This record gives sequence, C-alpha cells and structure tokens, in this order.
Amino acid sequence: MHRCLQPKRLLAFDLDGTLVGHVASGAAVYDRLTARSPETILAYITGRTFQSAEELLLQEKLPQPDILATGLGTEIRWGRSATLDRAWRRRVGRHFSTQRVRKILSEFTGLKLQPEEALHPYKLSFFVVDEAPDVYSKHVEMRLLQKGVRAKTVYSSGRDLDIIPISAGKGAALRWMAKRLQLSPQATFACGDSCNDLEMLLAAGMASVVGNAEPSLLRQLPNWVYRAQGASANGAKEGLDYWFGDQLNW
Ligand code: GLC
Ligand code: MG
Repeated sequence: MHRCLQPKRLLAFDLDGTLVGHVASGAAVYDRLTARSPETILAYITGRTFQSAEELLLQEKLPQPDILATGLGTEIRWGRSATLDRAWRRRVGRHFSTQRVRKILSEFTGLKLQPEEALHPYKLSFFVVDEAPDVYSKHVEMRLLQKGVRAKTVYSSGRDLDIIPISAGKGAALRWMAKRLQLSPQATFACGDSCNDLEMLLAAGMASVVGNAEPSLLRQLPNWVYRAQGASANGAKEGLDYWFGDQLNW
C-alpha cells in the first residue's frame, strides 16, 4: 500500500457471488479496479479462510487487494505482504472459544459441521440441514444467548451458519479498516450478494448489491442501497458506476 498518501475512499467487495461466479468473466470490473489510483483502497471481505481466498484470487486472476479480510472478518491482512493485523486479532479473539460453542451446540442434530478447511480458531461454521433452516438457526442463536456466549450468529445462502466472536464480522472489519485509514464511513463503499454481507452493506456510506443477491438480503436492505441488474461481476461494475460514475483520478 502507498502509505504516503491519505486515502480518499475504501472499496470493499465480497468475493463469491459478487466478484466471482455467475458470469464467465469479470474483466470489466477487474480492469476498473486495477486502474484505481493510490488514493482508492481496495479490500476484499470474505467468508473464506485466508488460504482459500488466496487460491481464489490466483485462480480467477482478481486484482490484488490492498487489504484482505477473511473468515467473515475474523482476520485482516494488509498490503502486498498480507501482514496480519495483530491488534484486530487480539480484539476479536478475546472471550471466544469455538470448543465451548461446539459443546453447547452438540445436541443440535440439524447442524452439520463444515469441512475442517472452512473452520478457524475464531470461526465455527455449519451447514443447517433442517427443513426450516432459518427458524432453526434462530434457535441456535437463542441457545447461545441463553448460555451467555458472546458470539455473532450469521446465517446465509439458505444453509451456512457461522458463529464468530461478537466483535468480528464483515461490517466490524470494514469499520476497523476505515478507522485505521482515517476515513469516515461516508467514504466507504461495499458490495455483496448474500445475508452475510448485510452488516458490511449497512456499515458503508455507499453500498450496492448484485443482481443475483439473496431475496432475504434484499428484504432487509434500506432503499438507499443500489440494486444492480447484472449478476456478480457485472452487477459489481454497475454498483461502482452508480456511486462513482466515470470519475477520473478515482
Ligand atoms: C464461505 C465460507 C463458509 C461460510 C460461508 C458463509 O463459503 O467458506 O465457511 O459458511 O462463506 O459465510
Ligand atoms: Mg457472497
């Protein structure tokens, strides 16, 4: 990252279903992002683990981000060297134990633990296999609350249930990045497609969702959030055009 310039804006994108997937090539939006000025900071905020996100960046030839937040905002890495943000990690890791959550939830037969590679010391993820997954995930959330666990329960895509520390999450990660960059929330833009992006979209001053956004996400969004027509990368481009037009020097 170019540290001598005061950044003017922070752009935060979800990856799966937003910058990748659905359309064959995200070239137009990737070109636009690659052409950004040093005053425009690019962040990816994903539910994937760091290793899995890195693989995807290579495979899809995504523009190199300035900041990468993984595990649903449980980890943040800065710059080309992907330096772990230790202050964020300390803050997130306080008072959270996936073992305790696992034990409490062991009686929930409608939960299937996601593969080991999707898990992380601060992120416990399940697939909800019950026939009414949204109601079921509410029960899970209630049980954790009753047991006094300070956790955030994030249900998305009609099957994924992530349990993360209360201070983590995509929105919290976005706010932390903006603060470190000395940017106001108004100078931040976020773009996503599923319910795990809700917090991040609401934390941003400018936000858009892609055309393939989850219906239950759309129902929860305020009117000011731009709803693109195009799917994933095409929709992400529309969102940028809506908020930034063809601004030069962007
Ligand atoms: C990604 C992660 C998965 C998580 C999901 C929703 O797919 O790999 O663990 O449950 O995002 O946040
Ligand atoms: Mg997504």
